[in-house]
Amino acid sequence: IAPIERQLAGLRAVTAGWRKAGQTIGVVPTMGALHQGHLSLARAAREKCDRVIVTIFVNPKQFNNPDDLENYPRTEEDDARKLESIGVDLIYVPGPDQIYPDGFATTVTVAGLTDMLCGATRPGHFDGVATVVPKLFLQTSADYAFFGEKDYQQLQVVRRLAADLDIPIEVIGCPTIREEDGLAMSSRNLLLSDRSRIHAPVLAEVMTDMRDALRGGAAMTGIIADATARIQAAGFTDIDYLELRDGTDLSLLPHAKPDARLFAAAWLAGVRLIDNIAV
Ligand code: PAJ
Repeated sequence: IAPIERQLAGLRAVTAGWRKAGQTIGVVPTMGALHQGHLSLARAAREKCDRVIVTIFVNPKQFNNPDDLENYPRTEEDDARKLESIGVDLIYVPGPDQIYPDGFATTVTVAGLTDMLCGATRPGHFDGVATVVPKLFLQTSADYAFFGEKDYQQLQVVRRLAADLDIPIEVIGCPTIREEDGLAMSSRNLLLSDRSRIHAPVLAEVMTDMRDALRGGAAMTGIIADATARIQAAGFTDIDYLELRDGTDLSLLPHAKPDARLFAAAWLAGVRLIDNIAV
């Protein structure tokens, strides 16, 4: 079973040995409750790097709702078993004091990229992500970091901060893993009732149809009303956003062009689902 390390000093001792031996290190930051999406990142790291660290830290700074933080699933034993089968070298599970010791006073803000999409509806969320991720990069001294396109805005924010802060790490984006019916895997899917679970894939279905229409030359203004109606008909209540944006700077686009992506966030019976696809 992959060893679990809970202390920064212990982590540093292990990675110092690896670095001395000239081995490359890959890190997969997670908040646990691991599913096939997370595991695909660990496998990508296993293929590319000599040593693989998966971090599990439910980062309080990125939750804007205390209940959400409280209810976040914690399944460490299961997670460790899943990671063992992939051959992960180390699981780093820091306590809050290893990440935010007394007196901690620094916040990292990535401007611009965090104004829109999830940044508009989840105040402080990306500051929380942008503050913890460089710490995980520096604590693990990894050469490569693996992030899912499922959280595409987060991936772009992380690329930006790694470049801006001169952190010597290569950020690698990995494709979104989906259920057979197209629903993007997420720990939040567990919160859906049986009934909601049946309707949840409509979001990805509508986005795929929108993508096809956009590829055929349609403009967003011509297809948004029908798409919104279909999503609402499936039982989604609020649609936080359903937008076509540039895949790098995330600027809003009226119609398809190279590197365009479709982004959506919508609420189904109290559960917020997000998805995005390349157009
Ligand atoms: P978490 O939600 O646990 O996700 C960890 C990583 O798994 C992220 O890079 C996320 O994009 C990826 N992931 C989640 N679902 C996926 C799917 N269906 N397919 C592919 N990858 C998927 O994202 C976070 O944690 C946190 O914000 C973190 C980066 C750890 C910072 O606290």
